[in-house]
Amino acid sequence: MQYNHPIVIQGGMGIAVSDWRLAKTVSQTGQLGVVSGTAINSVLVRRLQDGDLDGSCRRALKAFPSQAIAQKILDTYYVEGGKAPQQPYKRPPMFSIESPKALLQLTVAACFVEVWLAREGHNGVVGLNLLEKVVLPNLACLYGGLLAGVDYVIMGAGIPREIPGALDLLSENQKATLKVPVAGAAEEVVTSFDPQEVMEDTALAPLKRPFFFPIVSSAILAANLKKKSTGRVDGFIVEGPLAGGHNAPPRGPMKLNDKGEPIYGERDEVCLKEMAALELPFWMAGYYATPEKLQEVRAMGAHGVQVGTLFAFSNESGVKQELKEKALHTIMTENAPEGGWIFTDPRSSPTGFPFKAARIPGTISEETIYASRKRICDLGYLRHAYQKEDGGIGQRCPAEPVNDYVKKGGLAEDTVGRKCLCNALMADVGMGQIQAGGQEEISLLTAGDDLNNVTRMLKDGKKSYSARDVVGYLLGLEERAEISRETTTHP
Ligand SMILES: Cc1cc2nc3c(=O)[nH]c(=O)nc-3n(C[C@H](O)[C@H](O)[C@H](O)COP(=O)(O)O)c2cc1C
Repeated sequence: MQYNHPIVIQGGMGIAVSDWRLAKTVSQTGQLGVVSGTAINSVLVRRLQDGDLDGSCRRALKAFPSQAIAQKILDTYYVEGGKAPQQPYKRPPMFSIESPKALLQLTVAACFVEVWLAREGHNGVVGLNLLEKVVLPNLACLYGGLLAGVDYVIMGAGIPREIPGALDLLSENQKATLKVPVAGAAEEVVTSFDPQEVMEDTALAPLKRPFFFPIVSSAILAANLKKKSTGRVDGFIVEGPLAGGHNAPPRGPMKLNDKGEPIYGERDEVCLKEMAALELPFWMAGYYATPEKLQEVRAMGAHGVQVGTLFAFSNESGVKQELKEKALHTIMTENAPEGGWIFTDPRSSPTGFPFKAARIPGTISEETIYASRKRICDLGYLRHAYQKEDGGIGQRCPAEPVNDYVKKGGLAEDTVGRKCLCNALMADVGMGQIQAGGQEEISLLTAGDDLNNVTRMLKDGKKSYSARDVVGYLLGLEERAEISRETTTHP
């Protein structure tokens, strides 16, 4: 039997841009709200240190299956009333191939909290988005999502071939492993997660296995994932280069236009016919957020669209209120720079993937301001593993201090133009670190090319809009078509 999947997916947006509030709002409309699980352990500990003023995190932690673990997290990170604004956040340790148990417990609990809150008080469906490349926290995140009853897992930024099998095992509370790419390693390296061990004495019942949708940039990759994954793939998100966040690099050697952005061509276009031939539902993402495009792609075999940018600037998203307001106000009142409000930066992301930045003054770090930031790597989600000379495995990030990176065997040229997305994205959602010497981390807002058209949500003098408005706008034509179909079949 064909499952009745939602037509609109609110794309996962890290770090905490698609937080539980946004996902819940979308899910309540009957469409799919997706929380981001990226860096979610840091998000939870910072919310707790900000005092968890509305009590939501503590309410969700009360529902966590291990109250001993929940209490340990509160004892370590919760600050009643919130920390002083100039006081730095206490950080959890960074992930390693064999992360400390307390870090895995925190990560399970953090993902549980996010999904649990998004699902609280309604019957809509909720998804969890993770990045394949950020491999070390992923099994703990997935398990936390499963414990909270997540309905969908959506994963991109890499080829998530091993995730379906891991979901099968984790839903049976069994140990799962993922391969970790290690530069220079002669042997295969894996990271593992054993629910029985991490959850200690908790009684564990079998969990629902969610639907799994990989994010792909070609029909060939989709076919490969369908055939060669370690378990069931249930559908695909087909994302093109105009989408917000990270983009797949262009096929073939990277060539840049005169503004320094990657050039995409015909080879990067995805054939919907080939996607439809795979006989799994798929959603188009990246500049598809109009009712007309939704109808068009549905007529060509897609099930619907995944939308990010419009939701990222809606009232319910996690983006700091002043950044959102500033961005919307600027776009409403000023002329866009040549080439539009978005720059696709081939260098900024330590992942090596192109990453889009909004070019709105006051919402992003101008190059000159960014250049004055002292390099530091203290969150470490985007580090790459490498084989050390002493036989151990180390981690390095091309956005860390150049000397450290080179000392670890990295090439100095790899560090050029890199930005600390971990800290910048935490700043976007109002949880920026205060670094040594009182320096505040600076934000770097990402958005898709659709930001150029966001004013369509701001008609009649409106200065802001809700995620519900986005769903209503997207489904407007669909609903009219549905009503006319119904009136034709049932006169
Ligand atoms: C602020 C922002 C952050 C994003 N972060 C992620 C992410 O963490 N993981 C992911 O798979 N996609 C991410 N995306 C992509 C969206 O999930 C979605 O696929 C895309 O934005 C759709 O294209 P659109 O922006 O034209 O609507 C992000 C997009 C935006 C705008």
